[in-house]
Amino acid sequence: MPVMHEACKELRSYLRYGHHECIVTTVNGGGEVNAAPMGVEFVNNLIILKPYIDTRTYSNILDVGEVTLNITSDSLLYYYALFKPGEIRYGSSKRVRPLRILGNVDMYVEAVVDSISKHDGKVATVSLRPILCYMGCGSRLAYSRANSLLIEALIHYTKLNPLINEGKFEEVENRYEAIKEVYHVVLKVGNDELKKIITDVMLRSSDIIKAVAAGVSAM
Ligand SMILES: Cc1cc2nc3c(=O)[nH]c(=O)nc-3n(C[C@H](O)[C@H](O)[C@H](O)COP(=O)(O)O)c2cc1C
Repeated sequence: MPVMHEACKELRSYLRYGHHECIVTTVNGGGEVNAAPMGVEFVNNLIILKPYIDTRTYSNILDVGEVTLNITSDSLLYYYALFKPGEIRYGSSKRVRPLRILGNVDMYVEAVVDSISKHDGKVATVSLRPILCYMGCGSRLAYSRANSLLIEALIHYTKLNPLINEGKFEEVENRYEAIKEVYHVVLKVGNDELKKIITDVMLRSSDIIKAVAAGVSAM
């Protein structure tokens, strides 16, 4: 199908460095939208997603079988997806039910489930077939260390609780140290908005660490 072929050509270019990050939008059976940052890879014309099975993204994929990938480098959208979903503005996708995120998005990919496998008790591998791919407004951003580091900090942050649940406290400590390093750099090279956001991520991370020290699970 020509649309599919074009979509794959564009995608191959955008996802050419292996593992990439994006924001995945899905809907549940009732049509309620959900946005979550997720890693993606493009392999043999399929998009590979590896969601933890306890995520809303995974249960929505099981329910509805459709996703919209919002490909963006803008760290603010990742932060909003995790902590301030009410700040995200949505528009309709063209062929699938999950909405697309409006704003600084480079490319939208509408995709349907090709196959799902659960290779361990925690993470599933979801293969998605892209059916439509089109450009958004773009991230419109020169390379910014603060922007990239904020995304790194968000990844470390989202790993804290899974690692605590697995009892991997040394890794928790390493991730916390990494967040602290990011915090100091973003305070040096970020603008006021990113400084405020990294401070929020730092505080949320400290709360989790304090709760662990006190023997309670937080988040
Ligand atoms: C940049 C980035 C990439 C992420 N990649 C994944 C991933 O590939 N799989 C996953 O399960 N969680 C990933 N996470 C964590 C999820 O985004 C996080 O657990 C989120 O709360 C899941 O949301 P949901 O339950 O609404 O689906 C990532 C987080 C960030 C910041």
